[in-house]
Amino acid sequence: MPVVPFKEILQDAFNKRYGVAAFNVINDLTMKAVINAAEIANSPVIIQVSVKTVNAIGIDTLFAMWTEMSRQVKIPLSLHLDHCPDRKLISQCLKKGWGSVLFDASAMTLDENRRQCIQVITEARLYGAGVEGEIDGIKGIEDGMGSDTDSEHKSLEASLDFIRSTGIDCFAPAIGNAHGVYAESPQLDTQLVSDITTSIPIPIALHGGTGLSEEQFKNLISFGCAKVNISTALKITFMQSNLAFLRQAETNNKWDPLSQFNYVSNDLEKMATDYFQIFGSVGRA
Ligand code: 13P
Repeated sequence: MPVVPFKEILQDAFNKRYGVAAFNVINDLTMKAVINAAEIANSPVIIQVSVKTVNAIGIDTLFAMWTEMSRQVKIPLSLHLDHCPDRKLISQCLKKGWGSVLFDASAMTLDENRRQCIQVITEARLYGAGVEGEIDGIKGIEDGMGSDTDSEHKSLEASLDFIRSTGIDCFAPAIGNAHGVYAESPQLDTQLVSDITTSIPIPIALHGGTGLSEEQFKNLISFGCAKVNISTALKITFMQSNLAFLRQAETNNKWDPLSQFNYVSNDLEKMATDYFQIFGSVGRA
């Protein structure tokens, strides 16, 4: 069975100190390309979707795509719902068969976040699903979620207390990372990741993966960032590849959509493979 529990996929990566790429796919083509690349690299992978993508495609269609594509492969993979503050949508996805969710209650008070997070975990466990949690909003807007202003960062003790008292499977700290394109290379709080994982051996989710250097990835993975989120890079590759193909189509006056899909898929597979190599996940399936 290629679809494995979220916790299992991350625990192996955490123990062996490699990163599992979690790509925010946006349609069938991007989902297929990422899965294909993972299969060729013999790498585990997490397919994740934003709330915006779920709403655009529809929960049933999206899950049918996932079921069919994941059924045909042998690598470990899992389906994750990214940043979701909407409890109703979380319930629908869990019921449908999503392997995990990120309950994004970073806009709530810490106590309310904890209270609701425990409820989400109880619900997720009914389906054998996992939960990622966060207490500080990650900077940057991702598919309409989040904010461009820095949120107030809570202390290490607050993070540890939240992890212990909720029982989440994966924690997403704000360490100077941000969704979207970085204007300049960010200063990342590696020490916080190290302090958390030294106290509690929990897989850490690294958000805002697009634009980080190979050195930053490797360093953070060595401290326990077992889930590495990539969204913007996939979208840029998708759009630029389509644009390059269309420019060529216009020059040649040759309009073949299936060739375009093929061309874009190849570029996406290359992008995904490059990340698998940097994250050290090649051959770990
Ligand atoms: P990027 O868009 O910067 O790759 O971040 C992705 C992410 O963290 C999704 O939650």
